[in-house]
Amino acid sequence: MAEAVSTPARLAVVVGGAGGVGWALARALAENPTYDRVIVLSRRFPADWPATDTQHRLVWMPADILDEDSLGAAAVRIAALGAPTLILIATGVLHGEGLAPEKTLRAVTAEALSRVFLVNAVGPALVAKHLLPLTPRDQPSVLAALSARVGSIGDNQLGGWYGYRASKAALNMLIRTLAIEHRRTRPLGVCVALHPGTVDTALSAPFKAGVADGRLFAAEQSAAALLAVIEGLGPQANGGFYAWDGAPIPW
Ligand SMILES: NC(=O)c1ccc[n+]([C@@H]2O[C@H](COP(=O)([O-])OP(=O)(O)OC[C@H]3O[C@@H](n4cnc5c(N)ncnc54)[C@H](OP(=O)(O)O)[C@@H]3O)[C@@H](O)[C@H]2O)c1
Repeated sequence: MAEAVSTPARLAVVVGGAGGVGWALARALAENPTYDRVIVLSRRFPADWPATDTQHRLVWMPADILDEDSLGAAAVRIAALGAPTLILIATGVLHGEGLAPEKTLRAVTAEALSRVFLVNAVGPALVAKHLLPLTPRDQPSVLAALSARVGSIGDNQLGGWYGYRASKAALNMLIRTLAIEHRRTRPLGVCVALHPGTVDTALSAPFKAGVADGRLFAAEQSAAALLAVIEGLGPQANGGFYAWDGAPIPW
């Protein structure tokens, strides 16, 4: 009798999968036959989790990106399912209780700067530390972290938003740096920072009144555009910063 050969599961991971763009990415990936399982990591269970995921394509695991124990535990559970070929980091913060983008230097505080840096730069670096080693050595893989165009130093003509801008610039440098290291053991691995466009989510809600007509994407629109960009990334894209339409963004 021929021995059954089991094919490894094809996995995508979405960190921050309960957020606006993150959840849209997870749902789009769950419809994509390229992946057997889409693993959603978030602090809270996504509110819109489908009752009818009969194929069990979506898998939820709790994780706080600032808690390495939770990331380590999720990594162990993911590794038991297979080697992910796509890791999306869709966490981030712009405003919250006691936190608002600074219009002037006078509004800058150590507490707010530290909080934004922790979530937007430190957290994604810790995610990469725990999840990148799970990617296969001999197959193409992508890690994409959601950054923001306002994190571009070269593109900054308006000023303001000190913490958010600087934390995304720091994220971009972390991605660039880990991309170089990752390539040494994963020649087919690609790590990038992506700008999702201005997207209608909780993060952009207080600012969307000022967005020009037609420039505010639905989360589903942004997710589809980002996944198309990711699909087209070749090895030369490693360490780059790209917009939702695939155009490179200056550092
Ligand atoms: N929306 C836009 O216009 C826009 C534009 C440019 C860039 N971006 C970037 O795109 C990404 C996604 O943003 P979004 O619009 O989808 O925002 P969102 O709906 O607010 O989602 C952000 C998610 O990050 C999660 N998060 C924050 N801290 C976390 C932590 N310590 N551990 C785990 N999860 C944590 C939040 O989890 P909880 O739900 O538990 O709070 C939330 O689900 C962000 O990096 C953002 O900076 C967005």
